[in-house]
Amino acid sequence: MTTFQSSLEFAQQLDQSDPLASFRNKFHLPNKDGKERVYFLGNSLGLQPKSTTYFIEKILHQWEEEGVESFFAKDEPWMNYHHKLVQPLSIIVGSLPHEISVMNQLTVNIHLMLVSFYRPEGRRNKILVESKAFPSDQYALKSYIRHLGLNPDDVLVEIPFDINGTACSHEEIAKQIQKHKEELALIFLSGVQYYNGQLFDMQGIAKAAKEAGAMVGFDLAHAVGNVAMKLHEWDIDFACWCSYKYLNGGPGTIGGVFVHEKHHHSHLNRLEGWWGVKESERFLMKDDFISSSNATSWQLSTPPLLLFACLNASLEIFMEAGWDQLVAKQQKMKAWTDFLLSGMEQSFFSRITPIERGCQISLQFKKSGKEVYERIVEKGFMVDWREPDVIRFAPVPLYNSYVEVWQFIHCLKEVVNEVSLNN
Ligand SMILES: Cc1ncc(COP(=O)(O)O)c(C=O)c1O
Repeated sequence: MTTFQSSLEFAQQLDQSDPLASFRNKFHLPNKDGKERVYFLGNSLGLQPKSTTYFIEKILHQWEEEGVESFFAKDEPWMNYHHKLVQPLSIIVGSLPHEISVMNQLTVNIHLMLVSFYRPEGRRNKILVESKAFPSDQYALKSYIRHLGLNPDDVLVEIPFDINGTACSHEEIAKQIQKHKEELALIFLSGVQYYNGQLFDMQGIAKAAKEAGAMVGFDLAHAVGNVAMKLHEWDIDFACWCSYKYLNGGPGTIGGVFVHEKHHHSHLNRLEGWWGVKESERFLMKDDFISSSNATSWQLSTPPLLLFACLNASLEIFMEAGWDQLVAKQQKMKAWTDFLLSGMEQSFFSRITPIERGCQISLQFKKSGKEVYERIVEKGFMVDWREPDVIRFAPVPLYNSYVEVWQFIHCLKEVVNEVSLNN
């Protein structure tokens, strides 16, 4: 445990002794009028690795030189590209490589996972979700429930926020699972909640889900590449994510799913396409679907190689830095941010992010939040505003520094003072 001091010099020392400090140079850092800006929006869209262009150009070059034969080229065949991605991803999410399929985008993947893992039977037809889940998750759930001829109001059980109305406590989640244990078909929650930044106890939830006889899945949009997980060991049935936040895969890039290997040979309902066929049979063009018997059985279409290339650029950086090292830096940066924030007088805002979190912190303003946000942005900090009253910011270990965190909290203090004097 480091004992922190709140000075700029101390922040500089933290950067000097940071073994990952140089990784920041591997990214394009946003700037305005030639002045570098502090980017705390990795929770929204991760920064572009400088190597992304190289990896995209490589695909373009293969396409140019060899056309469709690039799929089976001697040098780096496109057929093998998926394997390259699942290896690092399996380290990041704590799974076996064949439990991952890199495919589609998140909302599409939620639908595909619901087809397989939401199997209402009689009374056991309820889905436990957090209240105020990301809107796309809510739309996916409700539309899929309606598609099955059921009524979302009868099926969805929302876990209320119960710590000052801002987070779901573990006790409340356990209570809800216990209360509905005879009726639960599925528990579908965030790994890290997008609005308040709360990290859910995925292991504990998975255990309780098993005891209740329900399937359990997670939306890992805000968790993947952010927090350490052990999806396989925790016996989670499925998970899905997007890769444009902490994974730095680029805007709208390819997402991913985890399907626990115990389901690879089971007779789950599944929507199928030719890319889910066993690799050795895929081009035999048979009428019957011969499953690849791993998570890629859920993959429908030809993979978008250009998006694979974007993700690959970033994953190579993750592996070079080392996932354990990144998690260690994330923990230290988190403690550093919490330490600096805890010294702040919080009559103007309250922190709605519990201690269990990833990189993100959300501050809820009692008044003038938008004004505070706008002034902070003017001063060169890129954070985000979530209606109606929240500023979110996320220092990430790959490209943020301890000094940037110090500068931001310092600026926040100044701006809050200025705004409160004017109000
Ligand atoms: C928690 C969560 N779920 C779902 C989505 C929707 O993702 P997509 O637009 O890739 O379908 C997002 C997007 O930011 C998200 O944060």
